[in-house]
Amino acid sequence: MFNLIQFHRSISELSLKMTPNNVLIVLILVIISNLQHIHARTLYTWSQVVPQNQLSVRAITDNNACPIARVDNKQVEMKIRSSMNNTETVCELIVDRLARHITVDDKKIATLPKNIRKIAIIGDTGCRIKGDEQQACNSAEGWPLRKNLEAIALHKPELIVHVGDYLYRQTKCLETTSCGSFFGYNPETWYADWFDPAKDISLRAPFIFIRGNHEACGRGHEGWFRYLDPFPFAPENCKPLDFSWAFDVGPVKFFIFDTSSPEEIFERQRKIDAFNKFNSLICDKPTWFLTHRPLWCTTTREPEVVALKSQGNLTDIEEFQDEFPKNVSAILSGHFHIAQILLMDDFPDQIIVGNGGALLYAQDQKPIYKNVDFHYPNGKNYSAHDIRNFFGFGFAIARLDSRALMFFNSDNKRLYSAGLTDDFKPRLK
Ligand SMILES: [Fe+2]
Repeated sequence: MFNLIQFHRSISELSLKMTPNNVLIVLILVIISNLQHIHARTLYTWSQVVPQNQLSVRAITDNNACPIARVDNKQVEMKIRSSMNNTETVCELIVDRLARHITVDDKKIATLPKNIRKIAIIGDTGCRIKGDEQQACNSAEGWPLRKNLEAIALHKPELIVHVGDYLYRQTKCLETTSCGSFFGYNPETWYADWFDPAKDISLRAPFIFIRGNHEACGRGHEGWFRYLDPFPFAPENCKPLDFSWAFDVGPVKFFIFDTSSPEEIFERQRKIDAFNKFNSLICDKPTWFLTHRPLWCTTTREPEVVALKSQGNLTDIEEFQDEFPKNVSAILSGHFHIAQILLMDDFPDQIIVGNGGALLYAQDQKPIYKNVDFHYPNGKNYSAHDIRNFFGFGFAIARLDSRALMFFNSDNKRLYSAGLTDDFKPRLK
């Protein structure tokens, strides 16, 4: 690997011994260095929270070199995470979560404050192109992800949680003036569906990325593991169930659990084992369970008939519902392209923020449902005493200091604010 720090040191050392030969060598080295910089263009850079209380600084370059970073005034070379035939390299640098000043190519990288007070939540963000579903990706109204992210930036969040599903351009766009020419599981589609619209906000706050079913094996998994997975890159067979991990946010803990796989039969036991591992952890504070697929959700006008019998939710419902430790106060998910909150009787409440940009589900539910019973194939019934729907594209903001969970639309209009109790359970007004 080309070591840029060593290279610059050699130039400095030669410059100190100014013989005519050395002047010539220095000139040649400087030209090579500049050429290297020209070719090693950093396309995107961001920071994300990863396990063990660390921050991963990442960059995508357009050849096989990585940029130099500065961490608290010390020069550090980023390492190659994954490289594709010299055409694209994903670079990574792991730092402690308390690192304060980081730059990459002189761009200031977002770091975490000691006390996190404001968290933005967004999900299901890509532009849907699948058969007849042709979202207008080139229109700010048709696909308002950029608008949503700009609205989030106005809140100055200190952390942004993406609850999964980044890549939506699965088939060819039939009208390129409306939806562009990118589709399929390749870097260009990742850039169009996520990295381009998120370019500015990626420098404003670190992310927590959650894997959605659009990043499952057989779909966008290659990009997930190369760009966003929080674990070290391992170029092996796709993992259908990624490792679980936790992040201590301060007054509340996040537990991140992979529900990207739709393969009920094959993943059932592995899911149960992973969940039991979580359950056996001694949890010392209120915990939110962050996972792409919600356990509870209504998507039709008649919510009492809804039972999520498919799409990978059944295992979760059957195996987890009775097993959550008491300190799990809420489940934070996306997957269904709506914004909804369900206050459950005797179970963790469900928050769904799946209205980030992808074509919305029918917006024909009532704003409020009371005392809804859910009937499941295992013979058990569960009930929500309060369900609220918030319409249109948007996002949510969780305030840990003032204990509020707010839903916003993409015009940054506040649609609703719920209180958060001492144990971080949502409490509707
Ligand atoms: Fe999904």
